[in-house]
Amino acid sequence: MTLVINNAGIAQPGSFLAADSEDFARSIFETNYFAVRMSNAFAPILKTNGGGALLNVLSVASWVNDGELPAYSASKSAAWSLTNALRNELAAQKAQVLGLHMAYVDTDFTRGFDVPKSSPEEIFRLVLDESNRASMRCRPMNSPSRSSTG
Ligand SMILES: NC(=O)c1ccc[n+]([C@@H]2O[C@H](COP(=O)([O-])OP(=O)(O)OC[C@H]3O[C@@H](n4cnc5c(N)ncnc54)[C@H](OP(=O)(O)O)[C@@H]3O)[C@@H](O)[C@H]2O)c1
Repeated sequence: MTLVINNAGIAQPGSFLAADSEDFARSIFETNYFAVRMSNAFAPILKTNGGGALLNVLSVASWVNDGELPAYSASKSAAWSLTNALRNELAAQKAQVLGLHMAYVDTDFTRGFDVPKSSPEEIFRLVLDESNRASMRCRPMNSPSRSSTG
């Protein structure tokens, strides 16, 4: 094994000021932030196989919290920060650590959203291109339908 993708993610709308906001924030962080714990389990295996690559699936919501999905955005910001920490922690084994900051992608997640969406195939191609440019750290979005790795 040379590549680990942390893809699991959930979202739930709800005001930060709502009475139950702490409960749903906890469940969202459990998946979107702590899923990155997969890295702990796989880092030694990646090392054995030459360093490896880790891709954490994040979101443009890690950069912008417009209040629609407050806990989701906060969890993705936290996962982005952790991705940056992991890049430093795994530098010694020369692992490539990437965060994928996607806008809307056509999956079950966005079914029913009438907005421009990238296709999963397009995203996969972009990831492969970017991972081949090993030094890539952060690239700003050009439009809502584009995605970037960082
Ligand atoms: N679609 C978009 O527009 C978009 C934009 C930005 C970022 N993202 C991110 O992209 C990633 C994939 O989302 P998607 O669009 O493919 O959504 P999706 O169709 O809803 O898929 C979500 C995936 O996460 C898995 N998952 C959820 N909770 C989990 C848990 N507790 N443990 C293990 N797996 C769990 C689901 O597994 P099961 O099917 O087994 O439940 C499913 O495979 C997520 O991290 C999401 O935040 C998506």
